[in-house]
Amino acid sequence: MLNFKLSLPTEVFFGKGQIKVVGEQVRRHGGTRVLICYGSDRVKRQGIFDAVTAKLVDKGIAWHELGGIAPNPRITSIREGVRLIREHRCDLIVAIGGGSVLDCAKGISAASGYEGDPWDLYTRKGEVKGVLPLGMVLTLAATGSEMNGTSVVTNLETKQKLAIRLPMLKPRFSVLDPVYTYSVPPDQTAAGTVDIMSHVFEQYFSPVPGTFVQDRLADALLKTCLHYGPVALKEPENYEARANLLWAGTLALNELLTYGKTGDWATHMIGHGVAAHYDVTHGVGLAILFPHWMQFVLGDDAQGKFYDLARNVWGVPLVMERMEAAREGIARTRQFFIELGMPARLREVGVAEDMLPTIAKTVVEFGEVGVFRKLGEKEVLEILKKAY
Ligand code: NZQ
Ligand code: ZN
Repeated sequence: MLNFKLSLPTEVFFGKGQIKVVGEQVRRHGGTRVLICYGSDRVKRQGIFDAVTAKLVDKGIAWHELGGIAPNPRITSIREGVRLIREHRCDLIVAIGGGSVLDCAKGISAASGYEGDPWDLYTRKGEVKGVLPLGMVLTLAATGSEMNGTSVVTNLETKQKLAIRLPMLKPRFSVLDPVYTYSVPPDQTAAGTVDIMSHVFEQYFSPVPGTFVQDRLADALLKTCLHYGPVALKEPENYEARANLLWAGTLALNELLTYGKTGDWATHMIGHGVAAHYDVTHGVGLAILFPHWMQFVLGDDAQGKFYDLARNVWGVPLVMERMEAAREGIARTRQFFIELGMPARLREVGVAEDMLPTIAKTVVEFGEVGVFRKLGEKEVLEILKKAY
């Protein structure tokens, strides 16, 4: 295990009715004029927007709004958000929605103190100087954005999907009410479950040895998804299922699993490469790609890790020979994603075969990806072809 410093500064308010804390939390973190970010009008129809603004009004806090933030959020929304922040001199941002809205809010926060174009921060041309405090009201279990410092944004003009990761972008507070996730449709529930599992895989497949505790935490989160993903699909208003998935999503990417080791993240990079060219739902891309990445990196040296996964999570029988068990674990992963209703091939989500080389180039734009197994353009293309 590597040395590490643990820092989880986000205060999480979890459970039914926790929206009540929004006003006092905004005040506590110095907010007097808030920019509220959201996606579609859904949050207004469902009353979540009004619940937030009522709490702000109670505390005498003014607010402005930025709606229309798209899934796979666009840099154009961040530019618009920065304009609103400056026009209204906002001092805190509250985001209501899934990972896309939360990531967009983080981008606005990071860019609010930067004079140049916000996209510079994602291409590393510019540096984040300061941020505005962030408060999140999460409505979809998936990304872990509610407790981490990552913002992933798409630029449709340059066809890139890039991330910034900064400790100062970790939200000050996050409200996680499982009831708000009852309305998540089946495809997004499934994609969110796959995303949570993928985050666990990315950190589980690490070359750093001696991380038993992190790996057993990983097993627990994966088992939670196997158990409750199908329940949430069948019974969308099952509180227990929604609560367990929501908390699993946060724990899967709040760094808990990564402390003391390094994560791989190659499959996410390949997924972002696909999403840069095609508007594919994040979890859908991962459902297609992950089994193929697993198959690609499985070799004698990786067999042990895959064997553990197959035994501990998928419960493959002890009598199986190690490589056979490892392969069985991968097959069951793919089967589970299909049973959740996810597509299994890139061609099913509209990707054109002749675009695969371009996507591979996009993926390795800043160099090789992955640490469990380093992948260059050739290897990425091979995985894409297998997934096609
Ligand atoms: O516009 P709204 O109404 O919010 O609709 C959203 C959107 O259409 C809808 N939705 C959200 N909550 C709902 C709901 N519909 C009904 N009821 C609810 N309660 O679901 C759709 C998808 O939302 P989105 O926010 O895009 O989903 P998700 O949370 O999966 O976020 C995906 C984005 O996060 C990035 C992805 O790349 C992608 O851009 N990621 C962010 C990460 C991070 N910050 O750490 C890590 C991840 O690996 C990922 O890269
Ligand atoms: Zn993800």
